[in-house]
Amino acid sequence: MSQRIAVLPGDGIGTEVTREAVALLELVAARRSLDLDLWHLDLGADRFLRDGTTLPTAVFEEIRDTCDAILLGALGDPRVPSNDHARDILFGFRFGLDLYANVRPVRCLDDRLSPLKHHGAADIDLVVFRENTEGVYVNVGGQVRRGTPDEIAINEDINTRKGVERILRAAFEHAKLHGKKRVHMADKSNAMKHAHELWLRAFREVAREYPDIEPVHVYVDALCLYMVQDPSNIEVVVTNNLFGDIVTDLGAALQGGLGMAGSANLHPGRRCAMFEPVHGSAPPLAGKDLANPFAASLTVGMMLSHLGHPELETLIEHCVRDCVVALECTKDVGGALGTRAAAAALRARVAVRLG
Ligand SMILES: NC(=O)c1ccc[n+]([C@@H]2O[C@H](COP(=O)([O-])OP(=O)(O)OC[C@H]3O[C@@H](n4cnc5c(N)ncnc54)[C@H](O)[C@@H]3O)[C@@H](O)[C@H]2O)c1
Repeated sequence: MSQRIAVLPGDGIGTEVTREAVALLELVAARRSLDLDLWHLDLGADRFLRDGTTLPTAVFEEIRDTCDAILLGALGDPRVPSNDHARDILFGFRFGLDLYANVRPVRCLDDRLSPLKHHGAADIDLVVFRENTEGVYVNVGGQVRRGTPDEIAINEDINTRKGVERILRAAFEHAKLHGKKRVHMADKSNAMKHAHELWLRAFREVAREYPDIEPVHVYVDALCLYMVQDPSNIEVVVTNNLFGDIVTDLGAALQGGLGMAGSANLHPGRRCAMFEPVHGSAPPLAGKDLANPFAASLTVGMMLSHLGHPELETLIEHCVRDCVVALECTKDVGGALGTRAAAAALRARVAVRLG
C-alpha cells in the first residue's frame, strides 16, 4: 500500500532544501521500490501574499486523515512581518495533530565540525525531547494599554499534568529502546515554582517506572553550561517548549550549525507525523544556492525511519558524514559547494550505497 507524504516547501531557503530533500527521497524510493505518494502543496508566504490562504481546514483534515508524514521546509518571510502564515501552518500541524514530541537529535558527524576544544564527534551524541504543544507557545495572553507607557504584555505558560507526563514518558521510552543510561530533565523549578515544580514532581514519578535509567534533574541554565563544557555524559534531554527551542540551537552549534540539524514532530503511536529541519528560512541566504541541504537530508532519514525503514536513516546519515569528511559540502561546514552540488554529491553517495 502506498504511503502518502504532504510536502510543504515553505519559504526562503526552505524551498531550496526541500527541493533537494524531495530529490533524495525520490532516489531512495526508486532504488528500494518504496511506494510513496508525494502531495505537493502550495502553502507558504507566496500563497499567503497572493490570496491570504494559510492552512485551509479541508487541507488540514485531508492531511490528518490520509497522510503518513508531512515534510516541511522552514516558514518565515520578511514580506510577512506578522508571521501569521508561519504560525497558522506550523502550529496548525503541531497543535492540530497533537504532535507533542519534538525530537531533535544532536549528533556531531565529524570532529572537524565540533566547536569544542576538548570534545569531538564521539562526545556529542544526544537527543532532545522538546514538549511541542504547551508552554508559552500556546498563544494564551494579551496586551493591555498597548502603545502607552503603562503597557502590559502577557504570554501565559501552560503546563498540564497530562502534557508534561507524556513527554517525560516519551523520553524515557526512547532511552529504554535505545539502551541509554540516563535522562536529563531541564527546568527552572528554582525560579518558576508552580509550573516547574509540576515538571520536577512528574519527572520523579515517571522515572520510578524506569529503574534501569538514571534520572538527572538540571536547571536549564546549568544544562547549557554542561552541553558546552562536556556533552559526553548527556544522552537524552527532556524539557519544555521554550527551553527545548533554545537548547537545540545550542545543540545545533555542537553539530556544525543549523545546516546539520534535523527534527521530527511526533505523537508516538500515531500515524501522521511532521518532519522539518531545525533551521528557519534564513532570508539573507535565500535564492543564492548557499543553504546547507544536509539538515533537510537528515530529516528525510528520520521520516524514512518513521515510515518503517530505520536502516535508510542510518544509510543517509553515513553518507552525510562521508560528504562532510570529504568536504563535499556547503561553506557553513567548511566546503565550497552550493546547495545543489552538495545535495547531488550526497545523492551520488546514497546511490552507491543503495546499489
Ligand atoms: N520551523 C520553522 O519554520 C522556523 C524555525 C526557525 C526560524 N524560522 C523563521 O525563519 C526566519 C529566519 O529566522 P532566523 O534567522 O532566526 O533563523 P534561521 O535558522 O533562518 O537562521 C539562523 C542562522 O543560521 C544560518 N542557517 C540556517 N539554516 C542554514 C542552512 N541550511 N545552511 C546554512 N546556514 C543556515 C543562517 O544563515 C543564520 O545565520 C524567521 O522568519 C523565523 O521566524 C522558522
